[in-house]
Amino acid sequence: MLDISDVEFTTLRDLVRERFGIWYDDQKRFLLLSRLSTRVAKRGFETFGAYVRFLKDGPRREEEWTDLASVLSNNETYFFRERAQLKALAAGILDEFLKRSPRVRLWSAACSSGEEAFSLAMTLIETGKIPDAMLSIRATDISPRVLDLAEKGYYRALSFRATEPPMLHRWFRAQGDGFAIDDRVKKLVSFGRLNLLDGARVAAEGPFDAIFCRNVLIYFDKPTQKRVVESFAKALRPGGYLFLGHAESLFHLTDLYEPIIGPDAIVYRLKAEGMKLGVTA
Ligand SMILES: C[S@@+](CC[C@H](N)C(=O)[O-])C[C@H]1O[C@@H](n2cnc3c(N)ncnc32)[C@H](O)[C@@H]1O
Repeated sequence: MLDISDVEFTTLRDLVRERFGIWYDDQKRFLLLSRLSTRVAKRGFETFGAYVRFLKDGPRREEEWTDLASVLSNNETYFFRERAQLKALAAGILDEFLKRSPRVRLWSAACSSGEEAFSLAMTLIETGKIPDAMLSIRATDISPRVLDLAEKGYYRALSFRATEPPMLHRWFRAQGDGFAIDDRVKKLVSFGRLNLLDGARVAAEGPFDAIFCRNVLIYFDKPTQKRVVESFAKALRPGGYLFLGHAESLFHLTDLYEPIIGPDAIVYRLKAEGMKLGVTA
């Protein structure tokens, strides 16, 4: 692999953090460089240093940054991941939303190839408590590559590792060596590109009853995590919910939310101060 000086490496990882929030500490130096080495060659640079200078000031750097969003992130996902949270949503939290309004809006805020957003749609349809016309799910990610996959709604075996067979048969049709999502589920979800670091865009996406931002904060450093979860407060209705991945928590990060501890899942509810942040019902 091409070599890189310590100063160039520091510049590179700071640029990546500024753009995407993704933090590569010293232990992840090799991971970052190995993920980028193909790009360096593809772009025709002979040294990492030249590539870093191009990312910083090059005239056509924006195109490269768009591609890097897909190269530098982990896109691992599957249907019905962290099922206990989905059960909590379907069992009690949905009723809270429906008391406030018959219309429910959810956001899968780092949706990868769409499995999380479609799992939300299937879970809520299955409750029988809400008509399709009253449910909408926004799903966004920074990577154009995974968003293309999400728009297709076509999945292979690995995406179904936690899917119960009746759900697979009910909501997918076999096609080639994979499965296509049912149109009824597909039409409840609208996909788009969004960087979670763009606080103005985050606020403008709202208001939502709940935001699912699972298994992405773990790649951010603490200040970025804080910034992102605090910007979500501007996109949630008062009393709205934030769902994080099981390895993520708001502990020592912000007190804008109160943890609701269930038997198998922890979720976070926006405190009343959310209203002071300009959120309207
Ligand atoms: C591991 S996947 C998680 C997918 C899904 N939420 C789940 O839990 O199964 C993380 C996703 O976060 C996206 N991501 C990383 N940085 C991001 C950013 N700054 N803004 C928006 N999405 C980002 C990646 O592209 C990737 O698709």
